[in-house]
Amino acid sequence: MKRPPPTQPTPLKGQGGRNPPLHVVILAAGQGTRMRSSLPKVLHAVGGKPMLGHVLDTAQALEAAAVHVVHGHGAEQVRECFEGRELRWVLQAQQLGTAHALQQAMPDIPDEATVLVLYGDVPLVRAEILQPAVAAGARALALVTAVLADPKGYGRILRDRKGGVRGIVEENDASPAQKKLREINTGFLAAPAGRLRGWLQKVKNDNVKREYYLTDVVALAVKDRVRIVTVAADEQDILGVNDRAQLAQVERLFQQRQAECLLRAGLALRDPARFDLRGELVFGRDAAIDVNVLLEGRVVLGEGVRIGAGCVLRDCEIGDGSEVLPYSVLQGAKIGAGCQVGPFARLRPGTVLAEGARVGNFVETKNARLGAGSKANHLSYVGDAEVGRDVNIGAGTITCNYDGANKHKTVIEDGAFIGSNTALVAPVTVGADATIGAGSTVTRNAPAGQLTVTRAKQVSIEGWRRPRKK
Ligand code: UD1
Ligand code: CA
Repeated sequence: MKRPPPTQPTPLKGQGGRNPPLHVVILAAGQGTRMRSSLPKVLHAVGGKPMLGHVLDTAQALEAAAVHVVHGHGAEQVRECFEGRELRWVLQAQQLGTAHALQQAMPDIPDEATVLVLYGDVPLVRAEILQPAVAAGARALALVTAVLADPKGYGRILRDRKGGVRGIVEENDASPAQKKLREINTGFLAAPAGRLRGWLQKVKNDNVKREYYLTDVVALAVKDRVRIVTVAADEQDILGVNDRAQLAQVERLFQQRQAECLLRAGLALRDPARFDLRGELVFGRDAAIDVNVLLEGRVVLGEGVRIGAGCVLRDCEIGDGSEVLPYSVLQGAKIGAGCQVGPFARLRPGTVLAEGARVGNFVETKNARLGAGSKANHLSYVGDAEVGRDVNIGAGTITCNYDGANKHKTVIEDGAFIGSNTALVAPVTVGADATIGAGSTVTRNAPAGQLTVTRAKQVSIEGWRRPRKK
């Protein structure tokens, strides 16, 4: 049976209730000369993540159908950094201007799409600022603008008496009167792809810099009587990074925003201005962080965990109620509940502390497990070690795990007591409830339950006299 023909033509994509597909184009081909760095500019990190990564995340938050990255300088390195992500890489071999950059991506974008242009070196822009621009860009040319106290260096928005946008003039091409305008072009714009394609073909490079300016599409849109919509953004959202001073400024802003967010979520940050998170933090109720703490990678803090001043934690998990005292450095450590670490402890990758264990000042651990309630409270090195529960490791105990060629394991069984200044020459096992006399160098297994001492017997010589000066 034949179907009856539809009474109404089916709406084309973008003309009915559904939004047109969003294609985000990120311009990231520029050199970034002023960074004075061998790292491509967009790979410089903010909050531990490359700037371009922030912009990609924003594009993702906008649910883009496709993300095109126009890249040039350090192309290979930039691509490598985002391997595995679904991106359309567009090479702009020569940087002839922002219009030229966008043009490189256009062949891969269908006419019915909405195009949103973002910059790889403007990392703090939030999706919620861009959303209204994307919505307006389905039919109009949408420009994101900002009013700045100091608009120097930016393109200025030119408006007519009725407030309608007439064009954008770049700083270098602006008259003294135009330079006084404080409403600036952030560079973010959205427009229907079909329209944009037509305008881009008409852009010329007859300006001071001899570049193809994307901003010239505004005057072309005016000519075509396409509506121009402006969307206001905060200064913070549009800050671009051209040099390391601006990078530092953007980093601080990012940290400030992040800290405010964490405080709202219930993290007890003693001072949000003295806290840095370069990665991801998961935390439980009443987790508290004192001043000057740096967290990197993925850090998980359980309920009521306290991190003391000046600590650095990277890729760590800290169990409920545990405390890390000031100036401890922890990397790749997993700490159970109710533990105490530091002050001045260094926990290296592979350190696992069971419930209630303690690692005190000037103790270094690496690839070491400490059982529940075990302690290494002072001045020790515990590496490649398996330590049972309720073990006491006296001050100055060293696991001699390295013979100059290979690493060997030390096993200390439950309830053992290791006297101060003991050297445990691995591979070696100390049996359960064994006691090692202080100052011993243990090279063979120490049996369970016995006292093992390897130091020379103490002797006192009666009547001995000190030599006298002749
Ligand atoms: C641009 C805008 C200006 C705006 C400012 C906001 C133009 C002509 N001017 O100026 O109105 O106020 O941004 O920051 O668009 N890029 C390429 N290929 C190129 C040229 C640039 O990928 O050929 C990239 C850069 O890597 C950068 C972005 O485009 O991420 C902006 O380029 P840039 O040269 O910094 O433009 P501005 O002069 O700052
Ligand atoms: Ca710039």
